[in-house]
Amino acid sequence: MPYTSLAATADIPAEKSLAVTHDGKKLLICHSVGEFFVIENRCSHAEEPLDCGRVRAGWVACPVHGARFDLATGAAMNPPAKDPIVTYPARIVDGRVEADLG
Ligand code: FES
Repeated sequence: MPYTSLAATADIPAEKSLAVTHDGKKLLICHSVGEFFVIENRCSHAEEPLDCGRVRAGWVACPVHGARFDLATGAAMNPPAKDPIVTYPARIVDGRVEADLG
C-alpha cells in the first residue's frame, strides 16, 4: 500500500501527540525518542481514545486507566491492558509524517 501523508513533523513537538482522522480511521501520531510513530487512536482495554495520554520514552499512556503501550510494537506494558494496540509503519518525507495504513 502507498504511504499516506498525515501531518507536518513541525506540528508535533517532542513527547507530544497529534490526533488525526484519515478515511474514517482515527489515528494518533506520537513523537518520542526522536521518532514519529503512527498508531490507532484506541486503547485495547476499553476502546477509549489515547490522545491526551502522556507520551514518554517510546510509550504512550492511556489517559483513562493508565495502561502504557510500546509505540514501536503496540505491546501493552502494564495492566489493565493485555492486548496490543494497532501500529502502522511510518516514515518522514519532506518534513511530513507518512504512514502505511494498509
Ligand atoms: S481504556 Fe485504556 S487502560 Fe482502560
